[in-house]
Amino acid sequence: MKRVVVLTGAGISAESGIKTFRDSGGLWEEYDIMDVATPEAWERNAELVNEFYNQRRRQLLGAEPNKAHYALVDLEKKYDVQVITQNVDDLHERAGSTNVMHLHGELKKVRSSIDESLIYELEGWELKLGDKCEKGSQLRPHVVWFGEQVPMIPAAAELSNTAGIYIIIGTSLNVYPAAGLVSYVRPGTPVYLIDPGEINVSHIPGVRHIREMAGTGTRKLVDELMEKSKE
Ligand code: APR
Repeated sequence: MKRVVVLTGAGISAESGIKTFRDSGGLWEEYDIMDVATPEAWERNAELVNEFYNQRRRQLLGAEPNKAHYALVDLEKKYDVQVITQNVDDLHERAGSTNVMHLHGELKKVRSSIDESLIYELEGWELKLGDKCEKGSQLRPHVVWFGEQVPMIPAAAELSNTAGIYIIIGTSLNVYPAAGLVSYVRPGTPVYLIDPGEINVSHIPGVRHIREMAGTGTRKLVDELMEKSKE
């Protein structure tokens, strides 16, 4: 089976009612990144940071996967589909995608603040200050904050290099190293970008930019690729 690698961002979950970061009305208009998404913020004001992620978790519990997530599941009938997501939600998994790599962590998990290998599934939406890991340190959200390493990048780069087709959905491609993954795609590989926004694609030679919402755009592209797989 031909391998399709799909890089997703906040835009694929927008139609599920989850806010993106940089659109108008996005989260980074309401909050300052430096106040809620850095290790320094956690040091300074863990209460505010924790409340931010508790709210995100609460919102996620009420959200459902949308047409775009399901279209990628359909694509598995004809292709070896590997999803690399920048999203911390679990909507790809809930839709039924088999292979999902989270670059920026997972909202429903928490981890020790002294030993990052101690990761736990959180029951419900609430992490409380005072909840501790088995070594006695405060648990923190299992997300990659600005200024932190992105441990999954080497594996994601390797995967991108094996793509027969590369699809990017709903990301402003503003945040590195994730935005640089496309440079690992082998020359000549078809690359598609589904995003209604004006995205700078000058670093992606030959990309076909489908300027549609994820729901309709992904469905159409998946139908097209399913047809092609018969050729
Ligand atoms: N369908 C598809 N794309 C959409 C939709 C939609 N319905 N609605 C918005 N978009 C697009 C926007 O045009 C924009 O290009 O989604 C993109 C969202 O971009 P960002 O908010 O910058 O989100 P993302 O690229 O995923 O951010 C990357 O930044 O803040 C960090 O860690 C966070 O993982 C996140 C990273």
